[in-house]
Formats: sequence, C-alpha cells, structure tokens
Amino acid sequence: MAPFVLFIFTIVLLPVERTAGQSQCSVCEEDRLTCSGPNTNCPNQTTCLSVQSNHNLTRQNYPSEGFARYCVASKNNLTGLFHFNFGDNVFLDFASAACNEDLTCSPQIVAPPLRIYENGKYCPKCFTTGHDNCVEDGNMACLGDIVNCTVVNGVISQVYKGIPANIPFAGKGCVSASVCNIKKDQSIRLGTFTYTFNNINCSPASSALASLRRLAFTLDKKHLGPQMSFFLPCILGIFAVKILS
Ligand SMILES: *[C@@H]1O[C@H](CO)[C@@H](O)[C@H](O)[C@H]1NC(C)=O
Ligand SMILES: *[C@@H]1O[C@H](CO)[C@@H](O)[C@H](O)[C@H]1NC(C)=O
Ligand SMILES: *[C@@H]1O[C@H](CO)[C@@H](O)[C@H](O)[C@H]1NC(C)=O
Ligand SMILES: *[C@@H]1O[C@H](CO)[C@@H](O)[C@H](O)[C@H]1NC(C)=O
Repeated sequence: MAPFVLFIFTIVLLPVERTAGQSQCSVCEEDRLTCSGPNTNCPNQTTCLSVQSNHNLTRQNYPSEGFARYCVASKNNLTGLFHFNFGDNVFLDFASAACNEDLTCSPQIVAPPLRIYENGKYCPKCFTTGHDNCVEDGNMACLGDIVNCTVVNGVISQVYKGIPANIPFAGKGCVSASVCNIKKDQSIRLGTFTYTFNNINCSPASSALASLRRLAFTLDKKHLGPQMSFFLPCILGIFAVKILS
C-alpha cells in the first residue's frame, strides 16, 4: 500500500514541482511587429525572451519586420535596444526584453529622438550576404547618440517548411554601444530568422576632422603631382624666411 500511495503522491506533486522554478511564455514567431501564441512552460534554466525587430538587409521589399517570443538559455539572454546601420539604407534594429511575470511582454523599438541628426562621427560602411567579410565602400555619417563603428559577421538561418538554410553575412557601419556588448556566438531570433553573431569588433567612430585629414593626405599624395610636392616646401620656406627676417 505504502509504495502505491507514494506513487500517487509523486504523480500529483510532479507538475507542481516542475512549474515552480519555471517561467511561462506565449511562444510565437512571425514576420510582423507583434505576435502571440500558446502558453508554454519554459524548460529549466531558460526564461521567456521577447524580441521586436525591423531591418532592411534584404533585396527589394521582402518582409523586414519581425517578432519572436521564446524560451532562452542564459547564454543568449540578450536584452536591450540594439541598432546597426551599414549605410545605404541597410539597417537592423531590435528591442529585446525578458518577460519575467508578464508572459505576453512586447518590447518596442524606440530610437532616441536625436537619432535623426548627423553627429559629426563617421564609420567605414559595407554590407554583404554570402560572405564572411565585406570590403568597405566609403564612409557613412553616424546619427544622434551613435558613436561606435563595428566590423561584424555572422550567420542568418531559417527553417522553412522543414528545410534549414544558413546564409553568412558581414557588415561595417555605425552601431549603438549595446551592440559592442554582444558576445561571440550569441544568437537572437528576429521573426522567423535566427541571427548568430560570430565576431563583433567595435571602435570609437572618428570625427569629421580625422576623415578630412585622411582626405587631405590622399589628395596630397595623389593629386598634387611631383611638381607641387617639390614646390610646396620651397614656398613654405620663403614664407618662413619672410616671417623670421
Ligand atoms: C526544474 O527545477 C525544479 C526546481 O527549480 C526542480 O525541482 C526540477 O527537478 C527541475 N526539473 C528538471 C527536469 O531538471
Ligand atoms: C528597403 O530597401 C528597398 C530597396 O532599396 C526599398 O524599396 C524599401 O522601401 C526599403 N524598406 C525600408 C523599410 O526602408
Ligand atoms: C535573463 O535576463 C533577465 C534580466 O535581463 C533576468 O531576469 C533573467 O533571469 C535572465 N534569464 C536567464 C535564463 O539568465
Ligand atoms: C565606443 O565609443 C566610445 C566613444 O568614442 C568609446 O569611448 C568606446 O571605447 C567605444 N567602444 C568600443 C567597444 O570601442
């Protein structure tokens, strides 16, 4: 009798025990700005993460909005507001939050209002898919609060009708400081896509002055020609003599 009672007890207690340390989650993923789905118990050691995303990394008007709510391990518990700009209207934004009690939590992408003005900082720009790196095709102006440049690469993956596909991507451009805290191999679900970041290397964006100096240097080398390069010091010398005498 005793083992049988114990057995019943275990059956009754097990579901209660299991839900105790777990978070619930309205799991869903869609290529639009919000979604809801069935309530699910997240496995142990995971919490419910909600991510709204918007990007224009693709050709033409392919869906650029995304929303995903899913159970995430602490390794990929990436929360905050993230902004990548690779120039030429190629951008990636996502807002992500842990749904601690609210199982249908919905973070929203809100850019600081100042992020419409150029701030005088510049970064090399490029973006490509199908490759692990891209060759910079000029500089871009950073906006508002954005003062960091990045060199990033990773993989975009999606399972469509049971068929998985992985596309490498690489970019350079202006990014929010939050992006610089993303660690190697961290991944995030953006709608029905999963982005895994392999390398993210940030540096302070350079000021206009620095780029102008670089421009002046290249002009000096390329366009002034040998005559000017010879005469310029002579002219400066004459000035110096004038000033000194
Ligand atoms: C999940 O965690 C709870 C307590 O937090 C524990 O009692 C239970 O055994 C764990 N379940 C699994 C499958 O690890
Ligand atoms: C994304 O780029 C395409 C092609 O340049 C353009 O037609 C489309 O309007 C852009 N979408 C957004 C959301 O900027
Ligand atoms: C994820 O981060 C949030 C706070 O940002 C925290 O409440 C939650 O416990 C973390 N979850 C995991 C699995 O680390
Ligand atoms: C981001 O830019 C700021 C301001 O120039 C700089 O202090 C910081 O070191 C940069 N972060 C990284 C990771 O390069």
